[in-house]
Amino acid sequence: MKSLIDKLEKNTVLSKEEYAFLIENFDGEISEYLFEKARNVRIKNYGRDVYIRGLIEFTSYCKNNCLYCGLRCGNRNAERYRLSKSEILSCCEKGYALGFRTFVLQGGEDPYFTDERMLDIIKSIKSGYPDCALTLSVGEKSYESYKAYFDAGADRYLLRHETADNEHYAKLHPKEMSALNRKRCLEDLKNIGYQVGCGFMVGSPYQTAENLADDMIYIKELQPQMVGIGPFISQHDTPFADKKNGTLELTLFMLGLLRLTLPYALIPATTALGTIDALGREKGILAGANVVMPNLSPSDVRKKYLLYDNKICTGDEAAECRKCLEMRMKAIGYDIAVSRGDCLNFKNSERK
Ligand code: 5AD
Ligand code: SF4
Ligand code: FES
Repeated sequence: MKSLIDKLEKNTVLSKEEYAFLIENFDGEISEYLFEKARNVRIKNYGRDVYIRGLIEFTSYCKNNCLYCGLRCGNRNAERYRLSKSEILSCCEKGYALGFRTFVLQGGEDPYFTDERMLDIIKSIKSGYPDCALTLSVGEKSYESYKAYFDAGADRYLLRHETADNEHYAKLHPKEMSALNRKRCLEDLKNIGYQVGCGFMVGSPYQTAENLADDMIYIKELQPQMVGIGPFISQHDTPFADKKNGTLELTLFMLGLLRLTLPYALIPATTALGTIDALGREKGILAGANVVMPNLSPSDVRKKYLLYDNKICTGDEAAECRKCLEMRMKAIGYDIAVSRGDCLNFKNSERK
């Protein structure tokens, strides 16, 4: 197994069978072997900097019905809210003062936020904070919508592919949604010129080692600038309420494989990882991740953005999370960076 890790480090890719073999057979010792290599690659490319992204969860309405997610439209118990444009801008103001230079507008697929409303918000943020990167994470849209958002100034787009396997995708989503359209979206986003992020849940229901190996192959082909992964965590008001959570060990192992597969990628240690283990985010950084995404949303709405159970930081202020993360990163020998933190293998000059 060590020779497979060596091979991955050298070639930055393995065959599907080789990835699947590692995923099926890894243990604590091989994990440590992988993490050390992943850390070294990460430190070679990005030093000990940890980039921060200010997450603004601006709407908990969603027209989709993904089986795993607490915001699915079928969940009558979810509390719904929308932030106004001025509330969003005051999150940015607070965030800027705390050193954030990337804002992530994330929400469910909420028809209230038409292209017209989105464009107005994008332009306001970009004109108020021209030195900041703006990341959108608002789901599946047409090529035309994505293009309009980009032309209005959006720099990056996060859309997890969730699983590269069509059949597995169909088990996690209602029949109106398809892996094909998901991948079409990611292609469109790349072609338009966004810095693109994909990703998946680790340990989602029905997931196999082959599925995860396919995810690695898909990601290697897509060459995204960012990859977000975190453990699946069951939510009590969804059809997957009784499904098992993804594990810390497998999530960390996948993070290590990702780092060696995409040496330059921006990879967050996610809130979900911090939710299944008190030191999950620290362990994620030590397995090769280089981004954290604390919440900038007003604390009174945080408890309403519940994709999964027991989410951390729902009672804290932005300033508290910022401080907390600074201390946590310091404690493991890493530093929060105040910068846009663009991906090293993406040239902004490519922007038309
Ligand atoms: N557990 C973990 N992650 C989840 N997501 C949605 N629901 C859950 C859950 N129950 C992830 C999905 C989605 C992202 C916004 O959050 O991967 O793309
Ligand atoms: Fe909506 Fe996203 Fe949740 Fe799916 S995962 S139900 S698209 S918020
Ligand atoms: Fe939110 Fe620690 S990061 S309280």
